[in-house]
Amino acid sequence: MAKAVIAGNWKMHMTCAETREFAAAFRPLISDLPDDRQVLIAPPFTAIPTLSRHLEGTGVAIAAQNVHWDEKGAYTGMVSAAMLVEHGVTHAIVGHSEPRKYFSESDEQINLRARTAQKHGLIPILCVGESLDQRETGETERVIHRQIEQGLEAVDPTRLIVAYEPIWAIGTGKTCAADEANRICGLIRGWVGHKDVTVQYGGSVNPATIDDLMAQSDIDGVLVGGASLDPASFARIANFR
Ligand code: G3H
Repeated sequence: MAKAVIAGNWKMHMTCAETREFAAAFRPLISDLPDDRQVLIAPPFTAIPTLSRHLEGTGVAIAAQNVHWDEKGAYTGMVSAAMLVEHGVTHAIVGHSEPRKYFSESDEQINLRARTAQKHGLIPILCVGESLDQRETGETERVIHRQIEQGLEAVDPTRLIVAYEPIWAIGTGKTCAADEANRICGLIRGWVGHKDVTVQYGGSVNPATIDDLMAQSDIDGVLVGGASLDPASFARIANFR
C-alpha cells in the first residue's frame, strides 16, 4: 500500500534562521514516525538548502512551492525544475489557489508546470478546489473536474499527487467536513483515472482535525499551511493515528 503523504506548505514564511529553529524542534518529535507515511515540507526557495541540511537523515523530503514550465530563459523571479533538483527537491506544488489568484495562473500554465516537473523527476502536487461562491452555486464538481482534466493533460498519473483544497477552507480555520472532503477526493480519484493516485486534502488542517481526515477511505494525506509552521502542531499531524 502507498504511504500517506503529509505535506507542509510554508508559503512566504520562515527565514533561514527560523528554519534552523524549526528543524531543531521538529527533529525529535518525528523520530518514531511509523513507516506507512512520508513527510514533505515546501519551504520558500531561499530556505531549501537550510531545511534540507538541518533535516538530513530524518526522511523528510523537500518540496518546492512552484516550478517554472520552461528549462531556462528570461523569466525574472522564476525557478526552473533543474535548479530545484540540484538542491535535492523531490516534489513541486503546482496550481495552488494563491498563484492562481494573485498571478492569474491558468490551467494550461499549470499543466505545463506539472509536465516539466515530471520530465525532471519531480512529483507534481496539483492543487484543485472551488471558491465559496462556486460551492454555493453548485459548481464544485464542474470546476474541479475541469482543473483535473486540463491540469493533467499528458501527465503521468503514476507519479503524481493531487491535493483537494477548497479555497474557502484555506487559512480560515474552517476545515471541510471529513465526509465531504472524502467524497470530493473520491471523485478526483475517478477523474484522474488511476486508483492508486495519492489524493490529499488541504484547508485549515490542524491537530484536532487530522485523525478524522486520515480515517477517511479516499484521503491519502494532507497539505498543511498554517499548522505546518509550528513544530509541535506539524509533528502531531505527521503522527496522525
Ligand atoms: O497549501 C496549503 C493550504 O493552502 C492550506 O493552508 O492549512 O493554512 O489553511 P492552511
